[in-house]
Amino acid sequence: MSEPMIVLRGVGKTYHRGRPPALAGVDLEIAAGTIVAVVGESGSGKSTLGKLLVGLATPSTGEILVDGKSPEPVSRRRKGRERPAQMVFQDVYGSLNPSQTIGFQLNEVYRAAHLRASRTERTAAITALVERVGLRPASDYLSRRSDDLSGGQRQRVGIARALATDPRVIVADEPTSMLDVSVRREILDLLAGLRTDGVTIVYITHDLLSAGYLADRVVVLHHGEIVEDGSPDQVLGDPQHPYTQKLAAASPGLQLELANGAAAAQTEEEND
Ligand SMILES: Nc1ncnc2c1ncn2[C@@H]1O[C@H](COP(=O)(O)OP(=O)(O)OP(=O)(O)O)[C@@H](O)[C@H]1O
Ligand SMILES: [Mg+2]
Repeated sequence: MSEPMIVLRGVGKTYHRGRPPALAGVDLEIAAGTIVAVVGESGSGKSTLGKLLVGLATPSTGEILVDGKSPEPVSRRRKGRERPAQMVFQDVYGSLNPSQTIGFQLNEVYRAAHLRASRTERTAAITALVERVGLRPASDYLSRRSDDLSGGQRQRVGIARALATDPRVIVADEPTSMLDVSVRREILDLLAGLRTDGVTIVYITHDLLSAGYLADRVVVLHHGEIVEDGSPDQVLGDPQHPYTQKLAAASPGLQLELANGAAAAQTEEEND
């Protein structure tokens, strides 16, 4: 078997001494090209896990490898250095600069990661990126400022910006929670499509229903520890840990979806 894309061994994170750790003794391996949903209630350590993967936080204990290397702390990063993992944030509004055009912002990020690319190569790459995230034709978007875009379009730009550095891993932290329900599924489908290009996705969410929709695997965090880990069918359909059972019971949409799934299976059986 090939090496996993992400490895955590005994990873702990304590922000303040004397307080309970945000993560405690997390062991996790994620195969390349997988979409893993990390679920759990507020404060369970989901974003902390994401930040550790991209180098926005450093572990207090244990070891993390992304594509075989420890994530480099963001503060120590130099231009042109590889960045195996990139984050897509919940708050697209706060993470794009409203006074600069989309083209300018993507160009800056792309250039920092591809120091040798010529201007022509950059323009071609950015055009391809913008179209890859579904903003077509790119010429309609590159000269616009983020203020002129809808929330869904902005989140697409956020994903394009993450992709501009050719990451092997994308950590998407609640990427749809600020969007209208009508565009949420589009963004999830866009993320799902990246798997075809071999990108590994860590999808952080409160929303078990979307976790079941998108992920190959669901990891449940509770007080900084993994309490359950398996396929969406196992973890969401037949949760074993009392905490996961509580989470699932508190997700009425999930109950409905599971009931529909069971009803559909029943009908299929009857028709056989
Ligand atoms: N920068 C920080 N400094 C101090 N404590 C922090 C910091 N970031 C997170 N914490 C604490 O670590 C714990 C886990 O936080 P984290 O943000 O990882 O949770 P989460 O599961 O992402 O929650 P939410 O669903 O609300 O986003 C919480 O108790 C939080 O208060
Ligand atoms: Mg969070």
